[in-house]
Amino acid sequence: MWKPPQRIAFLPQRGSVPTKEQASASRLFSQLVAGPVALSSRTWVPAMVPWRADNDGHATQAVIDWYARFAKGQPGCIVIEATGIRDVPSGPLLRAGHDRFTEGLKRIADAIHESSQGKTKAYIQLIDYLAVKRRPEKTRFLQRFLQITSHHREVLAMRDDAEDAVRDRLCGLDESALQQVLSEREWESLQKGARERVTDTGLQHIRELPAVLPELFAHAARRARDAGFDGVELHYAHAYTMASFLSARNNRSDGYGGNASGRIRLPLEVFSAVRRATGADFPVGCRLLADECIEGGSSVDDAVFYCVELARAGMDFLSLSRGGKFDDAKQPKVGEAIYPYTGVSGYECMPHYLSDTKGPFGRNFEATRKVRSALRAAGLETPIVVAGGIHNFDQAEAALANGLADIVGSARQSLADPNWWRKIRDGQADAVHLCEYKNYCEGLDQKHKQVTCQLWDRVGLSDSGIERTRDGKRRLTAPVDW
Ligand SMILES: Cc1cc2nc3c(=O)[nH]c(=O)nc-3n(C[C@H](O)[C@H](O)[C@H](O)COP(=O)(O)O)c2cc1C
Ligand code: SF4
Repeated sequence: MWKPPQRIAFLPQRGSVPTKEQASASRLFSQLVAGPVALSSRTWVPAMVPWRADNDGHATQAVIDWYARFAKGQPGCIVIEATGIRDVPSGPLLRAGHDRFTEGLKRIADAIHESSQGKTKAYIQLIDYLAVKRRPEKTRFLQRFLQITSHHREVLAMRDDAEDAVRDRLCGLDESALQQVLSEREWESLQKGARERVTDTGLQHIRELPAVLPELFAHAARRARDAGFDGVELHYAHAYTMASFLSARNNRSDGYGGNASGRIRLPLEVFSAVRRATGADFPVGCRLLADECIEGGSSVDDAVFYCVELARAGMDFLSLSRGGKFDDAKQPKVGEAIYPYTGVSGYECMPHYLSDTKGPFGRNFEATRKVRSALRAAGLETPIVVAGGIHNFDQAEAALANGLADIVGSARQSLADPNWWRKIRDGQADAVHLCEYKNYCEGLDQKHKQVTCQLWDRVGLSDSGIERTRDGKRRLTAPVDW
């Protein structure tokens, strides 16, 4: 992962330890009722992919155990991981693209309700993403994947030569000569792996995204409702299809890009199809970026416009993240896929404890405050979820008291100690295991390995009944008495 050059070390702080009475009188542990959203407290576990589904995208017992463990901490809501809306192979990522997935999803929702004793709502994050290929080996790319065009022939003065001869010549070029011959996009495909974009409207399936996505999201959301989930979060954030429609870099000329109104059009159409499929009493919100944090990307002013539009359209909550883009991600190794959390924007999304003067805790606060203020000024009361480096009661309570947000999300701290919200609520904040923000978990996600936390994955490994990772070296969930 990219780290700011300053490399100032920030240590997590325990903050104050409220008594049980102080905690129960706090904003954080007060109920939230806003339209169909009804939470027992304003505590929220944002989506985190644990890489535990089976290869066909079905929930496994390990997925169910993972969420049941988070639910023991009784947060107001757990958003389960980005779950694919299409019925296409996607490895061990959960899917909701067909009715056959509903039963497995139901087991997750039931486990959250049961394990939290009914205190935690189960929401599910629904995602669409475009194809991303692994970085190819150079000869393989030039001999097999590259489409030889008239441009290559022109530049190489090989207009009438056999294709094999053109490929052989390309293979013989040094890096800088090759870069002169390939188009910018071909060069990128060689350097980082081919990656589809929403602006590739020359490709039929990309051109038709606005026609197919609303129904795909709507069917997946209906399945989530059938499975017993309490709400859905449409994934409009980070590096994926819907965020790419919202990006200021989206210059589609078919009415679905080019300016802010065009960019928000598909997200609104998806929302209205989902609403029709699930009904007015079912919470539907989205996660989107308060700032893309890339050159030429959407800024907080764009986020303000999008959030006002989405809230006016009737979204039930808005969860704000930042960054996490492919555009500035590091070059992957040959044979590996590009990972959207390795550049500056990736740092903004999941900041590490080695930081700049701003530090890793609350980097999204200012942008979130701006969005929420604009909504309130427009007379819109839509609840806002903030996240990013929140790991103690003082931060969380201040975020609510200062009008930054209505709900406090905490991903890595919840992974480090799934009981942490409950401990604070019970007056035991001094027993919370604090996240160190060294991003071991994120490193596992990058390698598509089962995600665990460095603080607990070697603890009590020899205890009986411990479920372990495939290599047997790590436990899959935090110890019961953690
Ligand atoms: C292992 C891991 C997996 C993640 N998966 C998702 C995901 O599926 N969807 C999503 O919106 N964010 C995902 N995130 C980002 C988190 O939800 C969160 O926005 C980020 O970690 C910053 O919050 P934090 O500082 O509280 O951890 C993931 C983060 C981690 C560490
Ligand atoms: S591995 Fe654990 S302690 Fe480290 S950043 Fe992830 S959640 Fe925090």
